[in-house]
Amino acid sequence: LQSKKEKLIQIHEEAAAFYHQVLMNTVTGQAALDYMIQRGFTPETLKEYQIGFSPSNRTALFQMLKAKAFDEGLLQESGIFTDRQGQNELFDRFSARIIFPLRNAKGKTVAFSGRILQATPADDTGYHEAKYLNSPETLLFNKRDFLFNFDKARSEIRRHSEVILFEGYMDVISAWQAGVKNGVASMGTSLTDEQNRILTKTADKIVIAYDGDRPGVEATKRAIEILERNKHFDISIFPLEAGMDPDEYIQQKGPEAFVKALKNNRETVIQFYSRYLKMNLNLDSEKNRITYIETMLKALAPLDSLIERELYMKDIADEFSIPVDILQRQLKGYQQEVL
Ligand code: CTP
Ligand code: MN
Ligand code: MN
Ligand code: MN
Ligand code: MN
Repeated sequence: LQSKKEKLIQIHEEAAAFYHQVLMNTVTGQAALDYMIQRGFTPETLKEYQIGFSPSNRTALFQMLKAKAFDEGLLQESGIFTDRQGQNELFDRFSARIIFPLRNAKGKTVAFSGRILQATPADDTGYHEAKYLNSPETLLFNKRDFLFNFDKARSEIRRHSEVILFEGYMDVISAWQAGVKNGVASMGTSLTDEQNRILTKTADKIVIAYDGDRPGVEATKRAIEILERNKHFDISIFPLEAGMDPDEYIQQKGPEAFVKALKNNRETVIQFYSRYLKMNLNLDSEKNRITYIETMLKALAPLDSLIERELYMKDIADEFSIPVDILQRQLKGYQQEVL
């Protein structure tokens, strides 16, 4: 006898196959397929990730699953459908969206995320449809401990003891296609403690490759704070210019350039922190320069490596024409505070 969880997984596997078939082989899916191909994804990649499309006929999936004799209560519990609207029919919540199956660590599809095909401008009330729509929390799916692509990436993460942390599914899949197979995504811009715990068990090094826009940079700062809590990770940051995310980088500069840059252009946490502060402080003002230097010294105070600290101190001394021993004395004060 199948457990409820197993049946719910079966529903998701059937739905994923249905959506994928619609994308790859139907007129209904043609525009979405063109869109994904035009973005640079190959048919092999679309197959690998079982990317799909949900038809605008909102009951097609329900009819198909009903015909396979799945229990209606269970279909409701799957989260794939919205609350009952017709008399005998359930409506697909992802209708007219590109479908990303969300697979658990064992590779089983446990939820979906749907992307709108065309971004809709806000209406007069300022409302516009969310770009991505995810399954709600269910018996199978808990957003807080979910990492996109962990099933595929795990062995590669272990092999290098390194994980690349992206923001979006598109980034992970694009990177995968470019040959970077140890990438996962944190389901948007907020890394959770649960995700941190899972990654901690799998790798010693982590590279944060969030989007270069402000939300991405703010999220990088928050992710570092979470990752630093258990002093486990060797953390580095892949810096991107403001208008870019990793997928756009790959589209514009090509997969080889991306692989090379990801390997060679890495910031330390302190370098990121300096860049972050400079984004927020106009250093033309004396007050801001003082704030910048003091904040940097506070960040340097707890560093274990004397050599690393010395190099940053020298940079600051040069940049602001302050003798290193003055910086040293101020830093000593902050170290006392830490103790
Ligand atoms: N996200 C979400 N809901 C939204 C917007 C974003 O859940 N309304 C999450 C998704 O997991 C998405 C990630 O945040 O993959 C990153 O968002 P964003 O950078 O806006 O999207 P991209 O991954 O860049 O997608 P695309 O390239 O298709 O625009
Ligand atoms: Mn370890
Ligand atoms: Mn983003
Ligand atoms: Mn993005
Ligand atoms: Mn993108």
